[in-house]
Amino acid sequence: MGTPRADFTLDDALDAEIARAADRVRGAEHVVALTGAGLSVESGIPPFRGPGGLWTKYGEPPMDGYQRFLRDPKRAWEERLEPSAPWAKALGETLAAAKPNAGHRALAELERRGACAAVITQNVDDLHRQAGTRNLLEIHGNHALLRCSQCHARFTNDELPVDPAALPPHCSACGGVVKDDTVHFGEPIPPDVLRGCFAAVEACDCMLVAGTSAMVYPAAEFPLEVLRRGGEIIEVNPEETELTSLSVQSLRGPGGAVLERLLHHVAAAEATA
Ligand code: APR
Repeated sequence: MGTPRADFTLDDALDAEIARAADRVRGAEHVVALTGAGLSVESGIPPFRGPGGLWTKYGEPPMDGYQRFLRDPKRAWEERLEPSAPWAKALGETLAAAKPNAGHRALAELERRGACAAVITQNVDDLHRQAGTRNLLEIHGNHALLRCSQCHARFTNDELPVDPAALPPHCSACGGVVKDDTVHFGEPIPPDVLRGCFAAVEACDCMLVAGTSAMVYPAAEFPLEVLRRGGEIIEVNPEETELTSLSVQSLRGPGGAVLERLLHHVAAAEATA
């Protein structure tokens, strides 16, 4: 599912740039990756903005999704189980079929090698988790999980099966109303994840920013905070973004292919070290 960009070739100049970035990653104390929808494009999930973006195609959804949920959680659940919004249908189909790509796997392997301390993702697609990343901060939640809107306890669908005849589901810990774990527009970021992100950013001296337009806050604040603290940013994106001019290197290519090559250079250097 999903294909690398047909128009992408890894030429020598870019490969040399990636090798330089690999040296930076190896030389850094505490690398944190920040990822966005672009990283999952090669897994067949469209981005939100730009060419082929969901919001480009269908328009941005209303910004009060969370308030609507609180007003009528039963109705919100019915909409979640049988989406009527075209963007939600399109996203749901691609999420169900998607598998991690080389970019997700490379970040998991960099973590395993001690070269990446944490991944902060804006993606709700569960692909970093499936790829094996352990220190994962899903700032916009995870579509495969459920969360209590009161005590923030999280559940898998097996732990809390949702009965369409008894909506909304309730929390087995506190009795609160349970929603899907994704952070709806207008919803505050769950405090535990936000705390984890701040701690990761505070310790970070090199941030790998892959596949994001860096326009949505609070995630877009993190690379700026790393810079304020004297750290550096390495961007991975086929297009320029708001961060390009602030990045010490901007690797112009698809996330899967570029991160896979970055891992290759890290591994090669480690093997000869
Ligand atoms: N590899 C890497 N980056 C890519 C690829 C690719 N194969 N294809 C596209 N991109 C880049 C685009 O150039 C763009 O900069 O990924 C970025 C995607 O940007 P957005 O669609 O804005 O996605 P993101 O930054 O994750 O959006 C943030 O906005 O609507 C909300 O909740 C939603 O989490 C999302 C948030």
